[in-house]
Amino acid sequence: MSTASVTAVPALELRGVSKVYGRGDTAVAALSQVSVQLQTGQMAGLLGPSGAGKSTLLMMAGLLEEPSEGEVWLQGRLASGARRAIGDPRAFRRACIGFVFQKPNLVSFLTALENVLLALEINGLRGAPAKARAMELLSYLDVAHRRDNLPSQLSGGEQQRVAIARALANRPPLLLADEPTAALDSQRGRQVMTLFHRVTRDTGAAVLVVTHDHRSLDLFDRILDMDDGHLKERLLDTSAAPSVTA
Ligand SMILES: Nc1ncnc2c1ncn2[C@@H]1O[C@H](COP(=O)(O)OP(=O)(O)OP(=O)(O)O)[C@@H](O)[C@H]1O
Ligand SMILES: [Mg+2]
Repeated sequence: MSTASVTAVPALELRGVSKVYGRGDTAVAALSQVSVQLQTGQMAGLLGPSGAGKSTLLMMAGLLEEPSEGEVWLQGRLASGARRAIGDPRAFRRACIGFVFQKPNLVSFLTALENVLLALEINGLRGAPAKARAMELLSYLDVAHRRDNLPSQLSGGEQQRVAIARALANRPPLLLADEPTAALDSQRGRQVMTLFHRVTRDTGAAVLVVTHDHRSLDLFDRILDMDDGHLKERLLDTSAAPSVTA
């Protein structure tokens, strides 16, 4: 019997992470002593009221900001602070972390295909192999037929699917998404969330999604609730299988 699940190094680990913005009277404690592990192949939802610290947690996990206190570990390596063991955090981020935000933020003068190619090119993949990989991703996300369209010619859901294709371009072991369905109607939001579920299963990536959408919670392996900078894991009824046919 394999013991891999017992010994596996977490894709993401926060150890006692706090974040304070500002100083003195105006200081805001956005995160307070947050410790959490996310394993490969897990899809976790991060929920909580506005201002709870969800985006801040994602910024720490994605190495977009440094914690005030505590440590961020990625794939078993210290990724924050002066003693980090990942080399240049920007290069590590480009290669190992995919981001999806509420707004797709596609380059407006590039087609869907070119937007994905750009992400591949940044990591050194060009020419025919890049095109094949980009088309594979667009097909996987059901937007290949829109490859020659500009973002302005795509629906919100299509744009978001291109943004997910772009985020997956370099096969990142960690995918972070901040309210990726907030701008979509409930049906398209469900479709996009189902894609994250599929990505988790197919690629084995660890996926952390900030969401306010309580209707898609069945798709998550874990639910993390944030309130006022504190994180709590929700106990789930694991007997309920997700319905991913929508
Ligand atoms: N750059 C910043 N400078 C100062 N305060 C900040 C900064 N970014 C966030 N904050 C504060 O930190 C707290 C947590 O913010 P954060 O954006 O993480 O919340 P959130 O849970 O993502 O909220 P929302 O659901 O509205 O997106 C808030 O009080 C916010 O005002
Ligand atoms: Mg936020």
